[in-house]
Amino acid sequence: MKLIIASNNQHKVEEIRSVLPATLKLLSLKEAGIEIEIPEPYDTLQENAAEKARTIYALTGENCFGEDTGLEIYALQNEPGVKSARYAQNEPEFRNNIEKLLFKLKDETNRSGRFRTVICLIVEGKEHFFEGICEGMILYQPKGEKGFGYDPIFQPDGASICFAEMDMEEKNLYSHRARAMGALVTFLKQNI
Ligand code: IMP
Repeated sequence: MKLIIASNNQHKVEEIRSVLPATLKLLSLKEAGIEIEIPEPYDTLQENAAEKARTIYALTGENCFGEDTGLEIYALQNEPGVKSARYAQNEPEFRNNIEKLLFKLKDETNRSGRFRTVICLIVEGKEHFFEGICEGMILYQPKGEKGFGYDPIFQPDGASICFAEMDMEEKNLYSHRARAMGALVTFLKQNI
């Protein structure tokens, strides 16, 4: 089965590909020949994920999915949440987002939070939603070189190193995205 993911984020696409069975062929937007920047205008991960999937389904009529992820820090009332990509608004680079988050938490001892991924799958024209959660804590300083986004400051519960110090296989043991994709794959195996 062919499945288009409404993303061109190479890190994301590779992570997702690494948890899929060989029977599922994943295409990024670029690989599907689609040149489009899909906005994330909504206040919830669900709505953004659905917007991405619906946009690609309307364009192609193919089975596809959109996903949106947020980092929810409890001491910051779940900030940055759905705004995780654009947290440091003027310079929305990973490094700037990390700096802003560390600054906001500088006097905070409760460093717990979670990553949450929501996926909207459109298969045979019908929408299905899946969620994956990874609980963890924010480090005091960035560590590691791997991964993307907030990986250098996020250590999942049960691990002694942060996401950016893990290779992809190890990150997949804990990650929100791998868990949401696991639910999607189980659904496809049982229903399609
Ligand atoms: P997106 O809108 O789903 O692309 O994700 C929003 C932002 O969350 C990204 O720009 C990253 O900064 C962050 N993010 C998403 N997934 C991860 C992850 O697995 N590790 C670290 N940061 C992530």
